[in-house]
Amino acid sequence: MELNIEKLPVHVTLIMDGNGRWATLRGRERVFGHAEGVESVRAVTTAAARWGIKYISFFAFSEENWNRPAAEVETLMGLMCEAMNKELPTFMENNIRFRVLGDLSRLSEDLRDSVEQTCRATDGNDGLTMILFLSYSGKWDILQAAERMAHDLIGNPGLRVDAALFGNYLVTAGIPDPDLLIRTSGEKRISNYMLWQTAYTEYVFTDTLWPDFREAEFRAALEEYSRRDRRFGKV
Ligand code: FPP
Repeated sequence: MELNIEKLPVHVTLIMDGNGRWATLRGRERVFGHAEGVESVRAVTTAAARWGIKYISFFAFSEENWNRPAAEVETLMGLMCEAMNKELPTFMENNIRFRVLGDLSRLSEDLRDSVEQTCRATDGNDGLTMILFLSYSGKWDILQAAERMAHDLIGNPGLRVDAALFGNYLVTAGIPDPDLLIRTSGEKRISNYMLWQTAYTEYVFTDTLWPDFREAEFRAALEEYSRRDRRFGKV
C-alpha cells in the first residue's frame, strides 16, 4: 500500500495495549494475544521502513510488567527472544537497524545474548531504526541519567547543566524525541513511558486492540498526525 502523506513523523513510538483483552474476547489465554501482537509489530515496522520513516519504537515491556504472573513474563520474554532471532532476515531485507533500550541487567542471559547478536548483525543498516523498550520506565531513565550526570559533575563542577546535556545521559541519547505516540486499546495515559522525551509529542489514541493494529490503522494514525498543527509553545 502506498502512502501519500506530506508531513511524516521522524520518530513514531507505540504503546501496544490490548493483547490480553484481544485473546480473552476469543476465549483464549492472554499469551495468544501477545503472539498475535508480534505479527502487528512486524506489519507496522515493515510498513514504516517502506514509507521512509526513520525511527519506530515500541514499549514492549515496562519495569512494572515484571510484576505480572511469572508464567506470562516468561512467555513474553520467550516470544521476544524468538522474534529477535527469527526476524533477522526481515531486518536485513528491509535495511532496519535494531536496538533495545532499558534496564537490560534484569533480562535473562539468553535474551541479552539475542539482543546483542541482533543489534550487532543489523548495526550497518541505515534505513529505519527499530527500537524495543524492554524493562524500561521513564522514571528509571531519568534517575539513571541524573545519577550518571551527577557523577560527571563532581569531576567537572563547571559543567553547565541544560536540557541538551541531560538528554545525553538518557538511554535515548542521539535518538530524536518522538513526534508521534500511538496508544492502542482505548487507554489514554502515558504509563511511565518516555516522560522526558515526550514533552512535545503528539498523541493519537485508538480503540483498536494491538493485535488488530496493522498497516491500515497505522496509516490512519499518520494521517491524523499530518493534520495536527505543531507549535512547540510558539504562536
Ligand atoms: C499490552 O497488552 C502488551 C504487552 C505488555 C506486551 C507487548 C509485547 C509484545 C506484543 C511482544 C513484542 C515482541 C516483539 C519482538 C516486538 P496487555 O497484556 O496489557 O493487554 P490488556 O491490556 O488487554 O491486558
